[in-house]
Amino acid sequence: MLAIIGGTGLTQLANLEITHRQVMRSPYGEPSGPITFGRLRQHEVMFLARHGYGQTIPPHEVNYRANLWALQEQGAKYVVSVASVGCIRADLSPGDIVVPDQIIDYTHGRAFTFFDGRDRLVQHIDFTHPYHPKLRQLILDAARHANETLLDGGVYAATQGPRLETAAEINRLERDGADMVGMTGMPEAALARELGMGYAAIAVVVNHAAGRGSSRDGVHMESISAVAQPAMARVRNILECLVGLDGD
Ligand code: HPA
Repeated sequence: MLAIIGGTGLTQLANLEITHRQVMRSPYGEPSGPITFGRLRQHEVMFLARHGYGQTIPPHEVNYRANLWALQEQGAKYVVSVASVGCIRADLSPGDIVVPDQIIDYTHGRAFTFFDGRDRLVQHIDFTHPYHPKLRQLILDAARHANETLLDGGVYAATQGPRLETAAEINRLERDGADMVGMTGMPEAALARELGMGYAAIAVVVNHAAGRGSSRDGVHMESISAVAQPAMARVRNILECLVGLDGD
């Protein structure tokens, strides 16, 4: 079954016919909230709001291990993550939607592995291509069916937050090869890989990164929701087409 993890601006799916909600406990603690089960265009999906249904959990306090563990426990094979980002690459702008193909991890202090030598023996998972290629392609195909423009590929820099970056940090991320910056992409992607679930992300650009474009003098949070709302509506269209394509 497909699981969708919704980020800021996507705490529910409007057209999801909800069948039930399941409160979960995991060996790693509590997930961000109950998992919502339902049908989207006749296809069964599960949904979890990464920051909690009241948007109260900051990126560095999300229990990523509990979330991924709980989704797998409930039968998720594929996980699509929806996350908002700031854009660094010059040809990206707020409102764009990107399917990243690489990640650089700048987070620290988060519980980032299931293989900590206690519950599971250490395994060095391959993470050369952090996003599941087939699931990425399904997302791109779904966007075509939905008549929505998606950008194929880009490097996602995962920063620690919750503060936004300095202009110099953004310059450094760009020198490192990052195209966009967000706070939740890691360790989520790696944990999904450790559990053997296919994982891909839909990154919604909600602002220029610090020091760039309209954020030259600062990132203005007030303008973010005006951009995020219509973009998340487009993401919902894409997800509705996606569920029919995954073969489940
Ligand atoms: N930086 C980090 N995370 C973000 C941003 C940003 O500019 N925008 C949305 N998430």
